[in-house]
Amino acid sequence: MLTLTIPRVALRSATAPRQFAAAAAAASTVRFASTKTLTEAVSETVPAKREQLAKLKAEHAETKLGDSTVGHLLGGMRGLKCMLWEGSVLDAESGITFHGKSIPQCQKELPSAKDIGRPGKEMLPESMLWLLLTGKVPTVEEAKGLSQDLVSRAKLPNYIEKLIDTFPKSLHPMTQFSTAVAALNHDSKFAAAYNAGVKKTEFWQPTLEDSLDLIARLPAVAARIYYNVFGKGDGKQNVDPSMDLAENFTHMLGYGDKEGLVDYMRLYISVHGDHEGGNVSAHTAHLVGSALSDPYLAYSAALNGLAGPLHGLANQEVLNWILELEKEVGSDPSDQQIIDSLWSTLKSGRVVPGYGHAVLRQPDPRFTALSGYCDTRPELQKSPTVKLVQRLSHLAPPVLTEHGKTKNPFPNVDAGSGAPLYTYGLDEFKFYTVLFGVSRAFGALPQLVYDRMLGLPIERPKSLSMDALEALLKK
Ligand SMILES: CC(C)(COP(=O)(O)OP(=O)(O)OC[C@H]1O[C@@H](n2cnc3c(N)ncnc32)[C@H](O)[C@@H]1OP(=O)(O)O)[C@@H](O)C(=O)NCCC(=O)NCCS
Repeated sequence: MLTLTIPRVALRSATAPRQFAAAAAAASTVRFASTKTLTEAVSETVPAKREQLAKLKAEHAETKLGDSTVGHLLGGMRGLKCMLWEGSVLDAESGITFHGKSIPQCQKELPSAKDIGRPGKEMLPESMLWLLLTGKVPTVEEAKGLSQDLVSRAKLPNYIEKLIDTFPKSLHPMTQFSTAVAALNHDSKFAAAYNAGVKKTEFWQPTLEDSLDLIARLPAVAARIYYNVFGKGDGKQNVDPSMDLAENFTHMLGYGDKEGLVDYMRLYISVHGDHEGGNVSAHTAHLVGSALSDPYLAYSAALNGLAGPLHGLANQEVLNWILELEKEVGSDPSDQQIIDSLWSTLKSGRVVPGYGHAVLRQPDPRFTALSGYCDTRPELQKSPTVKLVQRLSHLAPPVLTEHGKTKNPFPNVDAGSGAPLYTYGLDEFKFYTVLFGVSRAFGALPQLVYDRMLGLPIERPKSLSMDALEALLKK
């Protein structure tokens, strides 16, 4: 049975080579009760998780989960059940659940800003992180402790600040983001421990340490990029230990005085964190991580996938689309004008951003949650951009259905995530995917911890050329 101190003790093992001991010392420089509590909570899950995996392997390794078809091979592996992902499961009809809990349940059960004595009502991303990592709802003290721990890890190393400052302003914020995240691996505790010969069964511990360091630092990386490119915020990325992660982040971006945006940011990060494993960013982190690349390299790769317009970049495209519409027909278009605009997008061969989904066949509960937030805030209810997004969510599905291509005509999370940001003045939508990138770490990195806790192997599916496929089909 692993105990609270095992990770540290293991890291300091007397038999460990000297460089590993040095890495271990680095890994233990941050010592907060909360970290230990989270590490302990994760430690407690290890035996049961390993036993569950061993039982599944022993009893069901040959059990079929469905057939792999030529359609899967040619069609982006849609629906092929071939990846383990612990934090969340996506159902086509009911949407995402995190360890079995829906978004409304999480909003009800997870410790919120108010619970830890901060202004605001929304669940804390820290609470979501705890749930994703342990499968359990944290107590208020646990959520608060984790929040303080993350704040204590948030300071950027000087070389990263300098690196970000060298990027041309014209370099897309997502490229800046993924480059800076990769470079943070200079201090990877996993890489140091691996080089020092840590045992495979202990890989998850420095992976967890790296993951917490990275999650803690992403807001400061993002805020520095925002400051350099758009000149907002104070450029210093200072953190206030009395504030939670989303609150500090919103302050760093220069919007700390906007309580509605601070609370929105908490909800935003929480609901964008995890969306099971098959989406491009999550899958990329898992795939790259399966080569035992450290969490910084794995997550940097994930960000490059998130930067694609069919994935995370769609949130920036939605705002582009709406502003184009407003330019054409004004900020209060008629239903018919909106419908005409949708058709003109479709007829020009473009996709309607924010609509459709590879798995979902109903409106995305993340969209519903973010839209529900808008309904609670008078300033958002008045916003023409928010109103337009909400009207679109009713007008676009019939048009997309009539168009007849997409399997899901309903809004996904990206359809609505940007409008509140825009309304609060965070209107540089080239930056929106970076916010998604800050959030996705809350789901992708816990899975890396699970991957290593369970000792999952390097990914290596089978590919075939068309000639090889034809030859196989003739047999
Ligand atoms: C998310 C998305 C990439 C899923 O793709 P998918 O799994 O291939 O979706 P489908 O199986 O429903 O696609 C079937 C067809 O409908 C089209 N389609 C899907 N969503 C569409 C949309 N929003 N607008 C127009 N056409 C769409 C596809 O491009 C595809 O056309 P093709 O056969 O000519 O290639 C796709 O819906 C899309 O491009 N949406 C817009 C971008 C977006 O919002 N991305 C964020 C996702 S969270």
